[in-house]
Amino acid sequence: MSVASAAVAAYIVAGLLFILSLAGLSRHESAKVGNSFGIAGMFLALAATVALVVDRGLPGGSAVLIAVAVAAGAAIGLWRARSVPMTGMPELIAMLHSFVGLAAVLVGWNGYLSVEGVARSDGGPVLGGAERGIHSAEVVIGVFIGAVTFTGSIVAFLKLSARIKSNPLMLPGRNWLNLGALVVFAVLTVVFVIEPSVGVLAVVTVLALALGWHLVASIGGGDMPVVVSMLNSYSGWAAAASGFLLGNDLLIITGALVGSSGAYLSYIMCRAMNRSFLSVIAGGFGNEGSAAVDRDYGEHTEITAESAAELLANASSVVITPGYGMAVAQAQSAVAELTRHLRDKGVDVRFGIHPVAGRLPGHMNVLLAEAKVPYDIVLEMDEINDDLADTDVVLVIGANDTVNPAATEDPSSPIAGMPVLRVWEAREVIVFKRSMNTGYAGVQNPLFFRDNSRMLFGDARERVEDILRAL
Ligand code: TAP
Repeated sequence: MSVASAAVAAYIVAGLLFILSLAGLSRHESAKVGNSFGIAGMFLALAATVALVVDRGLPGGSAVLIAVAVAAGAAIGLWRARSVPMTGMPELIAMLHSFVGLAAVLVGWNGYLSVEGVARSDGGPVLGGAERGIHSAEVVIGVFIGAVTFTGSIVAFLKLSARIKSNPLMLPGRNWLNLGALVVFAVLTVVFVIEPSVGVLAVVTVLALALGWHLVASIGGGDMPVVVSMLNSYSGWAAAASGFLLGNDLLIITGALVGSSGAYLSYIMCRAMNRSFLSVIAGGFGNEGSAAVDRDYGEHTEITAESAAELLANASSVVITPGYGMAVAQAQSAVAELTRHLRDKGVDVRFGIHPVAGRLPGHMNVLLAEAKVPYDIVLEMDEINDDLADTDVVLVIGANDTVNPAATEDPSSPIAGMPVLRVWEAREVIVFKRSMNTGYAGVQNPLFFRDNSRMLFGDARERVEDILRAL
């Protein structure tokens, strides 16, 4: 078998492994196996690609360049994956998406310079007729998607890592700016396909870089999780576009998998946050009208860890709703310990997980799995919401926006319409946080001022450990 046909076979197997990986990652129980499939697929894909390139014959020194690139990439990847805290995952993902975008831009420009930009010795183009038209379209579309992904991901990275403010940028007529950019892109694509030129491609590149920047800059903090998965989708389409240009089937398959799964995840998250998919994709369309209102909700009541322990000791049903603060405090092991203790005493303990609790999809599930909380007591928001009214005590551990009653009760709230965990329906609610500060969306939470709510201030891990001691 020739190296070329072995590589094609390896690509098909790698494609299947990626599909199995996605299937595995969709459930707790199979997530680890899914991850292993992904690693195996990527290893195979890399090995086959390198073998193929070497087989085609390399100009001198290229093998060394490839080896250095693979070694440097692997070293940086290993280092970042090991050192990144769970809470820093979204910004790391955003940064990685920017690399995919940049790669697609470079592949596109390279495609132009090595085909349209080169004249045959007789002065004619290297590719002729329809073939050249298709190639030019691939170049300009690949560069466009790649550049939008590149700058969009950089802005997402800067916002998520709090290097710039997460407030939406409100340029006048921003929707028209986005639409206008798309129309100009469509016109320039036609111009480029008819008569490819370095000038047109340069204008498309600059336009797409500006559009990517503006699209994400005009999206507000609350929508950032959707933006990350949306950029994930864009990066997939950028990779697929590069696949067409390079004639690499695996890149097309993988790009399409990433593109469509990212789009679907964005759609699921939009539903969970009651945002319209189109409004997020278009960068803030229809976001107007809701403004945070500073309102006086009255006084809050505090509780000590000892009194909280007493409430728990007398409860027969407890629901724990963790949020971003549990991740910050690294309280998951203490929470798991508390759960074990209460269950041993015959208390029915369950977890209610909001789809966007924390800072990345599945954030809470990962932490609870790491702390060995049994999967069968970890329920999704829709599975637990109706049971909350019959619950003795709800422990809100570092969650805020995801348990905010204003989302259902106050149409003027910036998070109005977002489905939330209705914890306030329980008999007693204990809220673990360090202060009266707002959560990610920057809105005050009337839950803290309700008669059945008690605030347990301090670091969530320390407070849970205090309760364990008191118990
Ligand atoms: P948030 O609304 O972000 O609130 C977290 C709370 O944890 C804060 O009020 C904070 O209050 C408290 N906290 C922080 N550190 C703590 C510590 N060491 N000990 C105790 N409490 C601590 O959390 P949430 O309910 O999980 O909501 C998630 C929000 O993030 C949503 O708005 C969502 O849209 C957004 N978001 C989600 C994602 C995904 S995909 N999950 C990605 C990006 C953004 P103090 O400062 O007073 O302690």
